[in-house]
Amino acid sequence: MQKNDKKPLIVANWKMHKMLSSSKAMLQELIQLMPNGVKLDNIVLCPPATLLHMLIDQFAKFSIKFGGQDCSSFAADEGAFTGDISATMLKDLACEYVIIGHSERRKYYQEQNNQLKAKIAYAHNAGLTAILCVGENLNQREDGSYLKFLGQTLAETIPDSANFDNTIIAYEPIWAIGTGKTANLIQIEEVHQFLNDKVTTLLVKYSQKTTQMFEQIPKIIYGGSVNAENAESILASKQVSGILVGGASLDAQKFYKIIQVTQKN
Ligand code: PGA
Repeated sequence: MQKNDKKPLIVANWKMHKMLSSSKAMLQELIQLMPNGVKLDNIVLCPPATLLHMLIDQFAKFSIKFGGQDCSSFAADEGAFTGDISATMLKDLACEYVIIGHSERRKYYQEQNNQLKAKIAYAHNAGLTAILCVGENLNQREDGSYLKFLGQTLAETIPDSANFDNTIIAYEPIWAIGTGKTANLIQIEEVHQFLNDKVTTLLVKYSQKTTQMFEQIPKIIYGGSVNAENAESILASKQVSGILVGGASLDAQKFYKIIQVTQKN
């Protein structure tokens, strides 16, 4: 598998962090740290939904792209689903991406693969790129069943509306999220190669074309305790198209250091 020449994608998942004023102050600090004229067009910022409108209004001009952290599995546009936000509502705000199936959603809201599949289909329908998170837990890693589990997750969650442009896979081993433990490069490359092959087969099948007709490769990004110290070596891997950053994207200085790595690549 080869990586294309584009700058690696950096997806910042802010989870349930920051208020109006603190988010604005952090991004202003980040912009000030960047050299003049640098385009932040490989950054996808996924803040809490409460901040999207204000941040898009003030910071889209720096080429930052925006995404939601989730969308409804019940309806594409509108409906009586208290607390949900639809894919079309995200698109209406000028979001281009949405994270689907983060392990925290699976853990705290018991989200199942069939729901995630519906969310991704709605995201595609709205014109969003879905960032599907997949990852094994520590038991599955230790008993060696992780590839089988990951393959099954992909088969059960990727809808037939998926193509090489509208679907990104984020490999996030659960044991590496927020723990300070990063998967090592051998572990990352093994899984990324596996996911690449599985996703390519699915996408080729869905588009009813033959593999030979495709020069595209799926985007597989890595997430789980990525920080300023390890980002460079992870991104140097040919198997890695980008990173999904949680904790280290909340601080302007730390996030700036990660972005700098991708400006050099
Ligand atoms: P982390 O989170 O970088 O804080 O480990 C990553 C994620 O959960 O997406």
